[in-house]
Amino acid sequence: MGVTGSVAAYKTVALVKDLSRFAEVRVVLTDAGARMVPEKLLAQASGHAVGRTLFKGFKPIAADTPSGSHPLSFVPHIEYARSSDLVLIAPASADFLAKMAFGLGDDLLSTICLYATCPVWVAPAMNQHMWAHPAVAQNQKTLRRRGVRFLGPESGHLACGEVGEGRFVEPAEIVGQVREVFASFQSWKGRRVLVTAGGTQEPIDPVRMITNHSSGKMGYALAQAALNRGARVTLISAPVRIAAPQGAKLVAVRTAAQMRGQTLKAAQEADVILMAAAVADYRVAEPSALKIKKKSESLTLRLQKNPDILAELLVRRKKGQVLAGFCAETDHLEKNASLKWRKKPVDLLIANQVGRPGTGFESDRNELLVFSRWRAKPVRLARDFKSRLASRVLDLIEEGWGTG
Ligand code: PMT
Repeated sequence: MGVTGSVAAYKTVALVKDLSRFAEVRVVLTDAGARMVPEKLLAQASGHAVGRTLFKGFKPIAADTPSGSHPLSFVPHIEYARSSDLVLIAPASADFLAKMAFGLGDDLLSTICLYATCPVWVAPAMNQHMWAHPAVAQNQKTLRRRGVRFLGPESGHLACGEVGEGRFVEPAEIVGQVREVFASFQSWKGRRVLVTAGGTQEPIDPVRMITNHSSGKMGYALAQAALNRGARVTLISAPVRIAAPQGAKLVAVRTAAQMRGQTLKAAQEADVILMAAAVADYRVAEPSALKIKKKSESLTLRLQKNPDILAELLVRRKKGQVLAGFCAETDHLEKNASLKWRKKPVDLLIANQVGRPGTGFESDRNELLVFSRWRAKPVRLARDFKSRLASRVLDLIEEGWGTG
């Protein structure tokens, strides 16, 4: 929760107390906000130290620091933003809305807003003429377009004695809205979700293998999104370099054959299956037990087709089980994905372009084209963080709940 320099800031102590009854609240106070409400009261209300500065624990690099070494162990804005389910700026001053609209990042709260991949809400509070100023109106429009949600302001008596639009929305209303969105985080409670992730590794010999560029990020984001909604998650993962989401049951595999075995077993218990892994289509038919020696100028490996796990799941599918497959293409995404969907009519086929930077493999962001059994036309999910896209994919799955 960000508290900025608006006179309504005095209301935030009670608000923080109320939110803390069902949420873990971390308050970040701007310099202007600190002139309105004592940091100590907010710390007492939330039970946590209040974030005040971007440079906490930061020491300038010493002259003898070796190049390439990293002087920071804790980066406050990243830690705050990464661990939040919701960023709520209440109250949000005209100045802070302008900062957000322009994408400034000169203090802790504005940099958190730049990083935040979770929803960002603002509850503005200011004089009516300030609220009506074309610059503020323009900033509001910009932020709304970017997906920032506005709570209020309301019309009524303002702190300055005037009457008009600009009043801080009732704290009880904010508490209600936050409570509702937090309850929706539990909308998958009781559901068992199986996610596959990462690129399988097919051995050539004990030191070499065939694999692909999958980092596991897309699959892990889906697992995290399902956990956020209260689901029980099993994550079957080929080797990756990222940490598994806390709370997921991690099943580590290496080869496509191992992934197949574990996936078919876990699928019996799953309500939703999300196949984000990049499974090798071929394995080396006879991997060598010993390291292959560099003798001849060329070397031929005979490859054997791997079973298609998704196709097998489609045949064995339990009633009511939702099955989502991915489709990675380097070209003609829509055409190729549509063909694949016809061949494997899963509930959701989530297509993405691979082979170019900034999307698909390895990137934190992606762009998806989702073919859904519950939609007449494919849904295009514009380039965004994989975490946000994962949540949108779950929304699309929810559309099918109860439709059989
Ligand atoms: O891991 P990241 O770096 O975040 O990258 C994400 C991703 C690009 C790997 C991911 O978004 C993705 O597209 N995963 C599927 C990759 C893939 O194998 O696509 P495909 O079109 O070859 O396969 C189609 C579907 O069949 C996939 O759901 C795949 O898991 C499944 N499959 C494929 C082969 C096989 N033998 N068995 C399978 O079940």
